[in-house]
Amino acid sequence: MIDLSISKPIYNKATPCIAKVKEKIILTGPGSAKETYHISLDIENTQLEFRPGDSLAIFPKNDPKFVSQVLSFLGCHPEKNLIDPRSGLEMSAFSYFSSKINLAKVSSSLLRYLTELPIHLEKKIYFSSLFQSENKPSLIDFIAKNDLIEVLSHIKEPLDSISPLLEHLSPLLPRFYSISSSLKTHTNEVHLLVALASYSYKEETRYGVASHFLCNLATPGDTEISLYVQPSKHFKLPDDPEANIIMIGPGTGVAPYRAFLQERIAEEATGQNWLFYGGRYQASDFLYRDLWTKWQQEGKLRLSTSFSRDQQQKEYVQHALLANSKEIFQWIEKGAYFYICGDAQNMAKDVEATLIALIKQEGSFSDEETKAYFKALKTSKRYLTDVY
Ligand SMILES: Cc1cc2nc3c(=O)[nH]c(=O)nc-3n(C[C@H](O)[C@H](O)[C@H](O)COP(=O)(O)OP(=O)(O)OC[C@H]3O[C@@H](n4cnc5c(N)ncnc54)[C@H](O)[C@@H]3O)c2cc1C
Ligand SMILES: NC(=O)c1ccc[n+]([C@@H]2O[C@H](COP(=O)([O-])OP(=O)(O)OC[C@H]3O[C@@H](n4cnc5c(N)ncnc54)[C@H](OP(=O)(O)O)[C@@H]3O)[C@@H](O)[C@H]2O)c1
Repeated sequence: MIDLSISKPIYNKATPCIAKVKEKIILTGPGSAKETYHISLDIENTQLEFRPGDSLAIFPKNDPKFVSQVLSFLGCHPEKNLIDPRSGLEMSAFSYFSSKINLAKVSSSLLRYLTELPIHLEKKIYFSSLFQSENKPSLIDFIAKNDLIEVLSHIKEPLDSISPLLEHLSPLLPRFYSISSSLKTHTNEVHLLVALASYSYKEETRYGVASHFLCNLATPGDTEISLYVQPSKHFKLPDDPEANIIMIGPGTGVAPYRAFLQERIAEEATGQNWLFYGGRYQASDFLYRDLWTKWQQEGKLRLSTSFSRDQQQKEYVQHALLANSKEIFQWIEKGAYFYICGDAQNMAKDVEATLIALIKQEGSFSDEETKAYFKALKTSKRYLTDVY
């Protein structure tokens, strides 16, 4: 058997693996304000290796509609060969603007470069004025509220050469997604759980680049995706198959636990698994509902759910934790591992604060004792987070 902890991955950022989209299923139901998809990628014959807890780095592609707009503003033929100033590689202009450039971002250096070009640029005086020191706040505001397409739309005369302009464009970086499947269950596939990111842009709905690429643009059986595995050092299953695990995963935060459970079940691990899932509405936002319910019925999973908008008062995963505080503390006392995955901005902080309060209450500890207990939990790598 291969020991994945020492074998060197064959794919990385510079040498990505190419996988075809196999399946795309919307998991949020009618009436949900969200669109979250289960995405399966075919990795047969790739020898791609990963473990539960790892993430997949995806190289997204821009919407061809926006790529065509940019090329038209630049007066550039899609088949024209360009040299990527970062890699030195030659590729068609269409390919370059599809895969290398973040069309949603504009840099101040691009703006300055355009204002200094001897061409007809609409709003040139306004753009130039943004570089006066007293207008710095307006420059920051302009950059935050406008994208590359908007800025290039003001070019009203063909450029002599677009090569120097390429130096001022923002790179399109890979996006990370928690892997939601185990190779022990799906030998030739890797699964993701992707929430479509959307925002308002000048009264239009726009989508995040990678989630739009995966959820809207990708066609099963056709679209190829460049990717590599981002291994997780700490966010992984306990080595001991008898250890109990407590998993907190609202929304897309639940993704890695599907991989955890598939792996534990395939390995016939005897430790208990307790999942705290949270979503907006039970009817439309219970991601992977059938799977969790099946495992619950088979005695393989203990499931506690919180649906925040099904009643007047918000109910979050931390409320379910508090409702089970005695047992949670007993599980931790007996060596359980505690995992948090999902939103970093609010959820993870609130769950951590709840856990600390729970430990203090159930252990009848002083503030100092609680601090030391929580620190020991972290040091023993039994408090593990993967938040974004
Ligand atoms: C370790 C890790 C694991 C993750 N796992 C998952 C996962 O399992 N599932 C998942 O769904 N996500 C996951 N994420 C998040 C994921 O990597 C992406 O960040 C997410 O999908 C958004 O990327 P995007 O390219 O779609 O959006 P981006 O294009 O990066 O945009 C992100 C947001 O920026 C704002 N924005 C962008 N451009 C503009 C603009 N011009 N004007 C105004 N606002 C703008 C919008 O709010 C938009 O929603 C994970 C992240 C990390 C770091
Ligand atoms: N960094 C990124 O690129 C990225 C990618 C994906 C998601 N996210 C962010 O992560 C969050 C979760 O997104 P999602 O689509 O996975 O799930 P989601 O459906 O937006 O949220 C899952 C559940 O968590 C609840 N929640 C909100 N605040 C909470 C808190 N402080 N503590 C506990 N639960 C809380 C939500 O309730 P209510 O909504 O009813 O309050 C909802 O019931 C969102 O804020 C999203 O913007 C970020």
